[in-house]
Amino acid sequence: MTKRYGLLAHPVKHSLSPAMYNAAFKDMCIDAKYELFDVEPGGLAEFLKKAAAEEISGFSVSLPHKEAIIPYLHMTTADVRAIGAANTIAYMGNGQYFGLNTDYVGALKTIKERYKKLCGRVGLKDKIVIILGAGGSSRAIAYALLKAGAHVWIKNRTKEKAVKIAVDFAERFVSEIHADDWETMNTGDILINTTSFWLNNKGITENELPSFCAPEFVREFEVVMDISYNNGMENFPDPLKTPLILAAEAEGVATITGEKMLLHQAAEQFRMWFDEPVPIWAMKEALEKNLNQL
Ligand code: ATR
Repeated sequence: MTKRYGLLAHPVKHSLSPAMYNAAFKDMCIDAKYELFDVEPGGLAEFLKKAAAEEISGFSVSLPHKEAIIPYLHMTTADVRAIGAANTIAYMGNGQYFGLNTDYVGALKTIKERYKKLCGRVGLKDKIVIILGAGGSSRAIAYALLKAGAHVWIKNRTKEKAVKIAVDFAERFVSEIHADDWETMNTGDILINTTSFWLNNKGITENELPSFCAPEFVREFEVVMDISYNNGMENFPDPLKTPLILAAEAEGVATITGEKMLLHQAAEQFRMWFDEPVPIWAMKEALEKNLNQL
């Protein structure tokens, strides 16, 4: 019988996940299909009951359910409990679900891969990382970097949210974590944008860029990463080249575009669901092809 997987989110339009997973299933000759499940906030309990009845094997979880799903899980990992979010669910049978987090693994793989290409070194110990934003993605990325021994500064427009992440993680790791003021332009080794700034400012022009795109700020970093990959910005037609990525490129700074973390978290998810090698090239090819069609 064909196994069923899917993305649980709201809204789910324009997702790149079906292309990535269906390409992986085809490449590995796995009899499975990946669907989209549009579930509104508040609809989780009903959906999980129905999914269990239909024996759906697993889900990727995205906004707005990553945190809300935790009370419905029967087993989780220590990472899920620390981060407070799950993005990968496996159905265990008997109406029971297991939740994992592959976002943080994907973030770490992505950054290490970039450093390996840059200088052959993958260790991130004692790197100083500035993360913009304090939502779920920021939390998973901060956790990943602290685990790798980097020191993290979180800057968020609403500072209390950055403070909350710093307080939650401070006791767990030897590495430092701090909340910083949004307007303070301290420097570091790695700058990561996790805010939804582009999504909320689609019509922005070159002259209206936020202060974190200023050349004098951006040029101080070794690597600049933006987790956004498709914001439909009117004046910046390449979905991967956000104004921050363009600013870093203009200064000759190494960049990491948003599709890389998407790919690596999905690859890790595949690894969790199937006891098979991950066909990452098939997934990458499908992702790139579909990015061009967005
Ligand atoms: P995710 O789960 O992907 O991290 P999220 O939880 O919606 O997404 O978080 C969005 C982040 O983008 C928040 O840190 C938000 O800042 P606030 O906490 O102050 O709301 C940030 N953000 C959104 N629009 C922004 C803007 N125009 N300027 C600065 N930060 C912004």
